[in-house]
Amino acid sequence: MTFSWLKRYAPRSLYGRAALILLTPIISIQLVVSVVFVQRHYQDVTEQMSRNVALELRYIQEQIESDQSTGVPAGVIALADALRVDMSMPDPAPVVADRRRFYDLSGRIIIATLRQDLPGVTGIDLIRDKKQVHLTLNTAPGPLGLEFPRSRMSASNPHQLLVLMTGVGFLMSVIAFLFLRNQIRPIRRLAEAAQAFGRGHSVPYRPSGATEVRAAGSAFLGMRNRIERQIEQRTVMLSGVSHDLRTPLTRLKLGLSMLDDGPDTAELLGDVRDMEAMLDTFLDFARLDSLDDLEQVVPADLLEAAAEGAGRAGHRVCVIGPAVTTPVMLRPMALRRALDNLVNNAVRHGTRIELSCQISERAVVFTVEDDGPGIVPEARERAMQPFTRLDDARSQNVGGSVGLGLSIALDIARQHGGTLRLDRSERLGGLRADLVLAR
Ligand SMILES: Nc1ncnc2c1ncn2[C@@H]1O[C@H](COP(=O)(O)OP(=O)(O)OP(=O)(O)O)[C@@H](O)[C@H]1O
Ligand SMILES: [Mg+2]
Repeated sequence: MTFSWLKRYAPRSLYGRAALILLTPIISIQLVVSVVFVQRHYQDVTEQMSRNVALELRYIQEQIESDQSTGVPAGVIALADALRVDMSMPDPAPVVADRRRFYDLSGRIIIATLRQDLPGVTGIDLIRDKKQVHLTLNTAPGPLGLEFPRSRMSASNPHQLLVLMTGVGFLMSVIAFLFLRNQIRPIRRLAEAAQAFGRGHSVPYRPSGATEVRAAGSAFLGMRNRIERQIEQRTVMLSGVSHDLRTPLTRLKLGLSMLDDGPDTAELLGDVRDMEAMLDTFLDFARLDSLDDLEQVVPADLLEAAAEGAGRAGHRVCVIGPAVTTPVMLRPMALRRALDNLVNNAVRHGTRIELSCQISERAVVFTVEDDGPGIVPEARERAMQPFTRLDDARSQNVGGSVGLGLSIALDIARQHGGTLRLDRSERLGGLRADLVLAR
């Protein structure tokens, strides 16, 4: 048997779960103790006290009956006084039925015990006065009215233990909550640091808390350092190579421009320009981590700008669908680069290109669609890896393509807490690239 259905109702946060684990035993213990206590205390103690009083009343009753004169003998009056029982004979207002408030639990026991132990009771009234018990006894000389304090039969302040228990339970829960909060805080800080790192920020973090949390924190720090070092090495290497290649390339270009114009020279110059474009892409890729900062951006503006840029280069790119004008926290320059990469791919492979944008509660999605050949599903994963070109060998290295466009777009999406999704465009038949970004 599994308890998976329980999970649906269980609190999601660690705080909530810990609170549940803490409160369940406290409340159960309180309930059990309360029930047992109420039973024992109300029932047993009240019963014993009532039985004692019944004995005294019975003694009074017997004294009156054994005396043959009418009226109450002086000895009995003195006795009743000593027992703090008020007597009236004959009773001016005889009680004919048992009366108690419905929530008066000990009252039920008082009535039951008196009825059992005192023959000749006509009625017991617990309502007339909350602190007094009124009852009428049938005796040979006539109805005898008796009145005595309720406190002689009910345990006084029976709720004290309950109040104390609830109070202490509450106090303990509050203290436990405070401790718990201190235990959970390091876990939350670790989660925040990990989440921020996933989005490309390196927030200050120092392991703290219980040993296990500390261990996880140290492991996270080690991992973060290693990843940062690797990224740094990648950056240094790529920018070093690009930078070093640029100088001879510039010299080459200068040399070529000195030569006579001819088809060969033009071709060579074109190649050199392609190489420059490739170096630019390398540098872009290398610098991915020094992204611009997050700011409020209107998605529709970003789409328009991307479409306009492609338009200037002579391509037909249109923005479709309703314009999303809600500002979203994004890195505009990085995103512009990601969109440009997708649009460049689209214009390279297709003739009709459509851009659109959708926004939801948690994400904003930029979509680039074209009517080109698309990418077969098996190759989509591979297409997003760095330095991967799927085009056949013939067209490789044409137009400065190095196979970084999609992986740069994917990196940028990840740094926005999102991803890049490739699919087949339903409308145009080519590739559909969704840049999904967390809001
Ligand atoms: N819109 C598209 N339609 C068809 N194939 C595509 C499309 N976009 C990308 N591809 C395929 O995916 C491969 C990887 O694309 P990516 O943008 O990463 O590199 P690239 O375009 O070849 O080079 P770069 O963008 O760096 O100039 C491309 O070589 C191409 O084969
Ligand atoms: Mg590309």
